[in-house]
Amino acid sequence: MTVQELKAAFQTAYGQEAEAVYFAPGRVNLIGEHTDYNGGSVFPCALSFGTYLLLRKNDKKMVNFRSLNQPEIISLALDQLTTPLDKLWVNYPLGVLAQFIKRGIKIKEGYDILIWGNVPNGAGLSSSASLEVVTAYAMNDQLATGFNRTVLAQIGQKAEHEFAFVNCGIMDQFASANGAKDHAIHLNCDTLEFELVPVKLEGIKILISNTHSPHKLDSGAYNQRVAECKLAVEQLNKVRPLKYLAELTEAEFEKIESAITDVTAHKRARHVVGEVQRTSDAVKALKAGDIVKFGQLMNASHVSLRDDYEVTGPELDTMAEEAWKIDGVIGSRMTGGGFGGCTVSLVKDEAIEPFIANVGKAYEAKIGIKPEFYIAEIGDGACKL
Ligand code: GLA
Repeated sequence: MTVQELKAAFQTAYGQEAEAVYFAPGRVNLIGEHTDYNGGSVFPCALSFGTYLLLRKNDKKMVNFRSLNQPEIISLALDQLTTPLDKLWVNYPLGVLAQFIKRGIKIKEGYDILIWGNVPNGAGLSSSASLEVVTAYAMNDQLATGFNRTVLAQIGQKAEHEFAFVNCGIMDQFASANGAKDHAIHLNCDTLEFELVPVKLEGIKILISNTHSPHKLDSGAYNQRVAECKLAVEQLNKVRPLKYLAELTEAEFEKIESAITDVTAHKRARHVVGEVQRTSDAVKALKAGDIVKFGQLMNASHVSLRDDYEVTGPELDTMAEEAWKIDGVIGSRMTGGGFGGCTVSLVKDEAIEPFIANVGKAYEAKIGIKPEFYIAEIGDGACKL
């Protein structure tokens, strides 16, 4: 939908014109998976698709939420903004309002809010983070709270923890808040320092393949991975004080890994330590123009997520493994939380068509679901339109 169409939809929904329109993007992560909550680094880019939020103040002391993607209309009084509802989608914007209130900000006026997003839901491209960040950005503007983009990302992350019950890291909200056109964000998730790295890929496109797998990022399995990493840290603490797995180099890990007696926690830790190294190597390779190396590291990331972190499954594995067979594919891996969702691939221009035809056919034959493909355009972070 265009912004004009969204404004018309707002007028139809609320009988008055929207006062402001905001946007926040989804993201695709190039490498650095399941490292963020382990104090490691990540390398995502903001996408050109995302979530739009239109609003106007009302004089009814009610916050009204509607989404063009969802059937429910939800109206809450100003004293009902701090408790999650069982209608999941509204918990994302609501959870953000609750975080403003928790930080001592008073919401004294009601708002009519209309949301629309074009990030495919459950695809691992951060439709929920974009909804959180667009709400945080809009409220920061409306309430003149002056939070910087990093704080807005943290507000979104907290909303996800407390209103969606996923103990996620900071990557998705950070990318949505801080993205920059044609750049990937090399973010240290411990210090939150980041560098924008140009992604100039002559003759190569970033192709996203949606498995349309019915398993969404399952909060149970995700939270379990977070807990397993915590257990690995606890067991390592018997031999070495450390806060995060990402503090260890691969060589340091090899010396003390036997302290992790839990077999599963050991595998999870091995993935994290290796992935942190791969991410740093990949950023260096990209800066040096060594895209072949970057692609090899992407493939190795997928293998580690498949074998050690165990967050891929047949759909993501088939998609990546079929991609690896195509000439002109530089690298291909699952992206995001896993358990379904999308892969991200670097593909030479001339290989895009054969990729879509052959990977699409092989995937559908094996999995029985028609996949979807998007050429990613790297866009800017949250903004007022
Ligand atoms: C989800 C989470 C992120 C990150 C990724 C895996 O997208 O929201 O914080 O942990 O999974 O890298």
